[in-house]
Amino acid sequence: MEKKIGILFGQEDTFPQAFVDRVNSKEIEGITAEFVRIDKVLQAQPSEYAVVIDRISQDIPFYRTTLKNMAISGTAVINNPFWWTADDKFFNNALAEKIGVAVPKTVVLPSKEHPPDTNEKSMRNLAYPLDWDTIFGYVGFPAYFKPFSGGGWKNVYRVESPEALFQIYNETGQLVMMLQEEINFTEYFRCYCIDRRDVHIMRYDPRQPHHLRYVRDPKPISRRMTASIRRAVLDLNKALGYDFNTVELALQDGVLYAIDFCNPAPDADLHSVGPENFEWVVEAVANMAIRRAKNHKPERNNMAWGDFVRSFVNKKPLVPLPPSKKSKKPRKKSRKKSVQETSEK
Ligand SMILES: Nc1ncnc2c1ncn2[C@@H]1O[C@H](COP(=O)(O)OP(=O)(O)O)[C@@H](O)[C@H]1O
Ligand SMILES: [Mg+2]
Repeated sequence: MEKKIGILFGQEDTFPQAFVDRVNSKEIEGITAEFVRIDKVLQAQPSEYAVVIDRISQDIPFYRTTLKNMAISGTAVINNPFWWTADDKFFNNALAEKIGVAVPKTVVLPSKEHPPDTNEKSMRNLAYPLDWDTIFGYVGFPAYFKPFSGGGWKNVYRVESPEALFQIYNETGQLVMMLQEEINFTEYFRCYCIDRRDVHIMRYDPRQPHHLRYVRDPKPISRRMTASIRRAVLDLNKALGYDFNTVELALQDGVLYAIDFCNPAPDADLHSVGPENFEWVVEAVANMAIRRAKNHKPERNNMAWGDFVRSFVNKKPLVPLPPSKKSKKPRKKSRKKSVQETSEK
């Protein structure tokens, strides 16, 4: 049976064509790739695509609902548009902490201005003032102050004192902002993670101007560090359920902190990431799309979910529970370490 793979995209010029060409150049019988074409969207209308790679629905709400409408007819949409609509960076930090991936200490703050059509009466559950002493004691200064959703370095600030924070906070309008511990890193990595199995580690220098951030001719990364990075990247994406994502990790005092790992339409532009990284991501995403097309079952739900959502469905804890204290027999000390202890972070 013919299986079509589509890609939905915005202003980017290099990745979509390279992706389509790569899939088609493999000449796999019954599998073809093309740009998605939409000329009408009728509810529950069957989709012609077995797989769609979504690169833009974060900016086009019409596309987001169109993709959900495709998913209900069996299209495997990558990334899962339902999950992408549900999560945010603050929740994701909490999830990282639960699964034992180090993240900077973070608090979320109510937006400075009331959301549309609300006023102080709508927010009577909030204490005023907030418990700033505890908040500042937890996060410390300097700190990062940044939105709980979004990306592209927009509205990301470094603040050195409560006064500086309040000054910027006053200008953030209706944005929901997080205050976050600063990680004073010695090394920084940005990693592609495809299909929750393929990881590509890029040295990245966020202190450089934009066009120099992906380090060219990077120093090699030790095997031990590579293993720790891979593990954090895979653990995060398995828990979140993203199939095409980047994870940014910052190394401070031997600990890898996940800084930014909610990038479900990650930069994959040839001119920005450079030819080698581009080649890697085109190939990995093409192979993922082909696997998904081969596994696609018509008339079924072909969406993939992360371990967090599956822990609801399966009624299983996200991380294994410690042994019950009720057990009567005195146990021998287990030689197996807990998840936390064996973690390399
Ligand atoms: N807690 C932090 N400690 C140190 N640097 C940070 C921290 N948070 C953000 N940064 C710096 O700011 C940049 C942008 O923040 P990030 O969380 O990646 O937001 P965006 O999603 O907009 O890219 C990061 O690449 C990093 O260099
Ligand atoms: Mg970032």
